[in-house]
Amino acid sequence: MSSTETVEIDLGLVEELTKREVAALDEKHARSLSYREEAKAHLPGGVSSSWQMWPPHPIYVDRGLGSKIWDIDGNEYVDYHNGYGVMVMGHAHPKIVEAVQKRVALGTHFAQPTEDALPVAEQLTERTGLPYWRFGNSGTEATLDAVRIMRASTGRDLIVKIEGTYHGHHDALMVSVFPPPDLAGPREHPNSVPQTKGLIPGTTDWVVNVPFNDLEAAQRVFAERGDEIAGMIIEPIMTNCGVVLPEDGYLDGLKETCHTHGALFAYDEVKTGFTVGWGGAIEVFGVQPDLVAFAKAMGAGLPCGAIGGTEEAMSGVIAGTIEQVGTFNGNPLTMAAARVNLEEVLTRAAYTEFDRINGVLDGCNRVIDDHKLPASMKLLGAKGSIDWHKEPIREYRDLWEIDDRIPQLAWLWQLNRGVFKSPGSKWESWTTSIVHSDEDIQRYVDNFEEMAAAITR
Ligand SMILES: Cc1ncc(COP(=O)(O)O)c(C=O)c1O
Repeated sequence: MSSTETVEIDLGLVEELTKREVAALDEKHARSLSYREEAKAHLPGGVSSSWQMWPPHPIYVDRGLGSKIWDIDGNEYVDYHNGYGVMVMGHAHPKIVEAVQKRVALGTHFAQPTEDALPVAEQLTERTGLPYWRFGNSGTEATLDAVRIMRASTGRDLIVKIEGTYHGHHDALMVSVFPPPDLAGPREHPNSVPQTKGLIPGTTDWVVNVPFNDLEAAQRVFAERGDEIAGMIIEPIMTNCGVVLPEDGYLDGLKETCHTHGALFAYDEVKTGFTVGWGGAIEVFGVQPDLVAFAKAMGAGLPCGAIGGTEEAMSGVIAGTIEQVGTFNGNPLTMAAARVNLEEVLTRAAYTEFDRINGVLDGCNRVIDDHKLPASMKLLGAKGSIDWHKEPIREYRDLWEIDDRIPQLAWLWQLNRGVFKSPGSKWESWTTSIVHSDEDIQRYVDNFEEMAAAITR
């Protein structure tokens, strides 16, 4: 446990250290820096996704093996980014490599079902208790399907989501992802804020946001507009605000509220699936939703997505009145990788590795206490975060109290000392893998301790 008495961080010192760290990073990344200039000619910002532009510059990766990755300048890192939480089995796992190589030689795409999709669906059923599954190619597609199914099944249009959560880049949910304080409106009735230009006018009218971990706020929205609400989608653990755990009774309370008002209850387990535990958040918290979206770690690094649900929730898809479609759905290469990943790699036994790993990471709690840092750590399975906030973060707006400069320095500090965390500073959680060694983990703790000493000197 962290002590309650904490030091005041000197932001002038943080800025000074950040300048030094950026200069050291630039020096190591001569090739990444020059490649970005070349790439900008044809790739906006030199990258393939806007969030790969995180400052000070994108780092171009060459290869990965096990817990490590190497950039194009030849720098080695222990990977805590793991492709935004995908590579929880480690890079180039021999079983995944073998399965993919076998499948490539047999043809990679037919747009007809192959025999690997059923065993993948059976794995998902075993882990969640939900009987029906369809596959897609990303988390975005999976949550898009969830929204469509909720609307089609109820004949209603309004979707309730949590303020400060990301569910992918389709219009319906690209709302109030990271709303700035000047636009977000009152906490009790947050505004629906478009996350990007280009949403269809009126899109935001169909989304109501509520704060995480506040059952009463959600109940109020249902009391006011229950007969318009198709359903609620929620990350059962918020993972794009560090790691924010649901309080006791919250998830059950939401499910009950949805059902009382004839609405569906959907989980977005794109990040929590196969990372927080063998059966994801459904198993950890024991609350089964009507629908769940998976992606990321399911496919072991191949583009993937899945939407699953109860027989009732999936009845429109079963009957063919709701079209869940896609050329690459159930792609043979993805299914071959997902099958071996779920059957042979991410087994129940594999998750005991995270007890070992989190035991070493617990050293960060000692550092927080010893240096009286205004910080707190959360750990669950492969996921974790250190929030530069005295009290554990409960909801999105708590993040406004964190000065961005401190987590950005923490990220740079780790990068310069051989640890690659996800870019995104205070928003991002880390993901470890079943093949991270104790030494890989200790490196994180040692770097954190060195930075703690530097900012409190
Ligand atoms: C919680 C959550 N849902 C959905 C998505 C979208 O997944 P994808 O990037 O595969 O479309 C993400 C992506 O990071 C996510 O974090």
